[in-house]
Amino acid sequence: MRLPTAKLGRTGLQASRLGYGAMEMRGPQAWGKPISDDQARTVLNTVLDSGVNLIDTSPDYGDAEEHIGRWISHRRDEFLLASKCGCPLAAVGDPRTVPPHVYTKANVRACVEQSLRRMRTDHLDILMVHMSPSVAVMQAEDTISEMQALQDQGAIRFTGMSGNLPHLPEHIAIGVFDVFLFPYSALDRSHEELISAAAAAGAGTIAHGSVARPLLAPPEAMPEPVRRPLADRHARLAAANLDDLADGASTMELLLRFILTHQDLHSLIVGSTQVTHVQANVAAAQKGPLPMDVYDALRDRLSPR
Ligand SMILES: NC(=O)c1ccc[n+]([C@@H]2O[C@H](COP(=O)([O-])OP(=O)(O)OC[C@H]3O[C@@H](n4cnc5c(N)ncnc54)[C@H](OP(=O)(O)O)[C@@H]3O)[C@@H](O)[C@H]2O)c1
Repeated sequence: MRLPTAKLGRTGLQASRLGYGAMEMRGPQAWGKPISDDQARTVLNTVLDSGVNLIDTSPDYGDAEEHIGRWISHRRDEFLLASKCGCPLAAVGDPRTVPPHVYTKANVRACVEQSLRRMRTDHLDILMVHMSPSVAVMQAEDTISEMQALQDQGAIRFTGMSGNLPHLPEHIAIGVFDVFLFPYSALDRSHEELISAAAAAGAGTIAHGSVARPLLAPPEAMPEPVRRPLADRHARLAAANLDDLADGASTMELLLRFILTHQDLHSLIVGSTQVTHVQANVAAAQKGPLPMDVYDALRDRLSPR
């Protein structure tokens, strides 16, 4: 069965509704899980063999871009490649804290040049600003005009924003970004209406943080600003008792298909270091949106009280 696809707004790019997030490939030097070359090669090729054609990465994700370059650059015409800018080059920081990001023209260009070199390609399909700076910061640094210069030069095809509140409404309002990446899950729907606003403005919409992260992150290991909301999501999920809705499916599958039911959301990215998990996620995505009664019940049971 083929994976369903959707048009990423005005870009016209046809993306699989399930994409792959390469952050999981960052490796231990960037506080990730150990991943061997063989495992990275097998996972990335399984992703493509399964019909996933959207890969999201970042200069921030440790070894991820190198793995993409080494193991699937020979299949470059089979996938859309999204990376980020504003990141510290060769970042190996602790992802539980926000590393300092710099949105100068020089750093935007340096990020892209490094990404192209690491991933052995001559273009990115989407270049997103990372970490959601304000429009004022981007204006002061001329960030967007440098992205547009890179577009004119053919190094990137479309611009985007990996954003979140509070700055996302102004990112959408300025009307320059072709694609938005939102945090969005059944347990945190705070960006739900902004997804629709971005789609109505003609942009492509992608979600992350949707599926496994809310289940796996151990709240006590996280720093205080994120520990409390995560603990709250765990508690809501534990109390929800979804067995009657699941009909034999895993909670992961329910959460993934919940995202696919948002009518203005074009794709969601999930990361994994395990072939079996990639295959399970693809199988869930192939089932498409949830029946509306299941969607409504899931939304109501997982909403904050
Ligand atoms: N988190 C952020 O702040 C952020 C920001 C912007 C963009 N992104 C992008 O979004 C992508 C996704 O990140 P995310 O934060 O949304 O995390 P996620 O993809 O929801 O969760 C990844 C975790 O889920 C596990 N997993 C995946 N499929 C599974 C399955 N079927 N069964 C059990 N476990 C499974 C993975 O472990 P295994 O390795 O064991 O499968 C991994 O630990 C990133 O890779 C990145 O490209 C993330």
